[in-house]
Amino acid sequence: MQFTRFLLRLKQFTRAYNTVKIQNNVGDANLITKQLYNRIKATGPITLADYMKEVLVNPLGGFYMHKDVFGSGGDFITSPELNQMFGEMIAVWCINEWSKTGCPKPFQIVELGPGRGSLMQDVLRVFKHFQSLDSCSLSLVEVSPYLSNIQAGALCTQFNDINNNSSSYYKEGKSVDGVPVRWYRSIEDVPEIFSIVIAHEFFDALPIHKFLKTENGYREILIDIGEKEGCFRYIIARNDTPASRTFIKQSETRNHLEVCPDGLVIVQTLASRLESFGGLALIADYGHLGEGTDTFRAFKKHKLHDPLVQPGTADLTADVDFANLKQVALEGDKVLAFGPVLQRDFLMKMGIEHRFKSLEKNASKTQLEALKFGYEMMLDEKQMGKRFKFLSLLPAVLKKILDKYPVAGFS
Ligand SMILES: C[S@@+](CC[C@H](N)C(=O)[O-])C[C@H]1O[C@@H](n2cnc3c(N)ncnc32)[C@H](O)[C@@H]1O
Repeated sequence: MQFTRFLLRLKQFTRAYNTVKIQNNVGDANLITKQLYNRIKATGPITLADYMKEVLVNPLGGFYMHKDVFGSGGDFITSPELNQMFGEMIAVWCINEWSKTGCPKPFQIVELGPGRGSLMQDVLRVFKHFQSLDSCSLSLVEVSPYLSNIQAGALCTQFNDINNNSSSYYKEGKSVDGVPVRWYRSIEDVPEIFSIVIAHEFFDALPIHKFLKTENGYREILIDIGEKEGCFRYIIARNDTPASRTFIKQSETRNHLEVCPDGLVIVQTLASRLESFGGLALIADYGHLGEGTDTFRAFKKHKLHDPLVQPGTADLTADVDFANLKQVALEGDKVLAFGPVLQRDFLMKMGIEHRFKSLEKNASKTQLEALKFGYEMMLDEKQMGKRFKFLSLLPAVLKKILDKYPVAGFS
């Protein structure tokens, strides 16, 4: 009974789309609320990107900075937390594409936003199974010191913090299989060598700017303080802002749109690195193909929450604009881009059905129930199967090989 209740609760975990309200009152003033309130009072309304950044990664009280936000006790659940098959399919994809490049060594596996480290545990297990851990290192890009400790606990037999300001990494360790692991705050700090890059539910956590079409053209939506103390509200900028001047394309027609400049810069960095040092990248997230409008939302304890209430206590997220990411990645012809394809299609093409059948054979009744639940949730078009998409980037120099041997999961 308890297990069934757990499954039912789990069903509400995925972060569904919802339109946000325009004004809210903040009840309890917390640290982030006070900081934001004072900042806006002193210097005026801030962009949504500034608001999101403070709320999610402010070292003193940001959502990701001080607690485990995943799973039944947290605020949301992700595919790698549902079961091992998700990470295994990603690992099989990585090994398959890496082998087309001749398995260059040394190489690193880079994960952007590794959460609890569960996806990487599954990936490393598959790499070990295929005896592919030789000359491998792991580079984790994680802004949260708290989550980096959880990741280290999951992946390493030993680890320690680096208290040296001139170091590009802030923690290092050794995985159970002896793979060196290092933690970086930014992709810019990660070593420039052949890289297998994985980003699952990372881009949706990056700050966005939001714009509304008005009779005076596109105007940015800003965050201002509300009428009562500790209360925030959305306002529409009266004039152009730097972001509205920079990020709105001439061809834009949507009434409401969101742009994530940090995501675009990271994709540009990935494309340049893949071209110069070789590698492959797999980006998986919920998102749209350039038609998305108002997707900004908050999640607290697995329920939709008002993004302007008690900032720092709920996750803030927005659907990833895959069309924009792909367009920017392709600039300069450094890489080839494949997808985005639906999660369901990617996982099916990678053979998740066969893996499910093989795990099913040895599962206990309870394990089987959880396995089936996760499997259906990841594949069902009404749940994660359609909403989540996969985009891959490979160096343009591989074109001839990839024409002959198409990229797995995307063809
Ligand atoms: C939604 S969680 C996804 C976790 C994991 N990939 C999964 O699927 O379970 C986002 C992750 O990205 C990290 N993160 C968020 N913003 C970041 C940033 N600007 N730089 C680096 N990591 C960030 C968070 O701390 C967290 O580990």
